[in-house]
Amino acid sequence: MNIHQYDLLVKFSTLRKPFVYFILGGPGSGKGTQCELLSKNLKYVHLSAGQLLRNAIKNNSEHKSTIENCINNGGIVPSHVTINLLDKAIFEDISSDTFLIDGFPRNYENMENWIALMDNKINFKSVIHILCSRTTMIQRITERSKTSGRSDDNIQTLEKRFIRYQNDTYKIIEHYRNKNQLIEINGDNSIEIVQREILESLNQLNNK
Ligand code: C5P
Ligand code: MG
Repeated sequence: MNIHQYDLLVKFSTLRKPFVYFILGGPGSGKGTQCELLSKNLKYVHLSAGQLLRNAIKNNSEHKSTIENCINNGGIVPSHVTINLLDKAIFEDISSDTFLIDGFPRNYENMENWIALMDNKINFKSVIHILCSRTTMIQRITERSKTSGRSDDNIQTLEKRFIRYQNDTYKIIEHYRNKNQLIEINGDNSIEIVQREILESLNQLNNK
């Protein structure tokens, strides 16, 4: 077997253990924007948990009504649904070894089930938290709501999403901070500055 064949074998086999980063931040903190840029700059694959859930609604998934209910009320979809979508998306995509998972894990239930179901199938790298002021996030979502067509980009749902972020996601962020697996970036800065700071942090992490 030559090196090329070996490479293909590993890509398609259970030996393949992709690298995973989680990107967290409040609504409008720039998770999606930054992940898109990172995927261009580093050839990583960007997977948005929220987008996978929105796609599942469009595709009339069996969980459509559960997902719709959660999204419209700023709630968190039961993790078996989200993890199943992420698992498929990761293992169907062989274009890269590294995945940026945006908007996951949102709470302990997400995190604990991920650890139970996925931890031994992947190589966890780090959490990137984009820390952003509420004023900036409200401004961005208000602007985005003009064109996003998203049922949750309105002030009532936004308030609920802030509560989930503060009450649930923050605990996840602290959990990874205590494990020294957290990169925290100031998300109030411009898109370019935030991107540069994330790239610098990743560089440092990967050259340790
Ligand atoms: O991250 P994003 O803003 O796209 O998420 C939109 C919505 O999708 C969240 O407010 C939540 O209702 C749902 N979601 C979820 N579980 C996740 C990620 C997103 O329930 N892990
Ligand atoms: Mg997003």
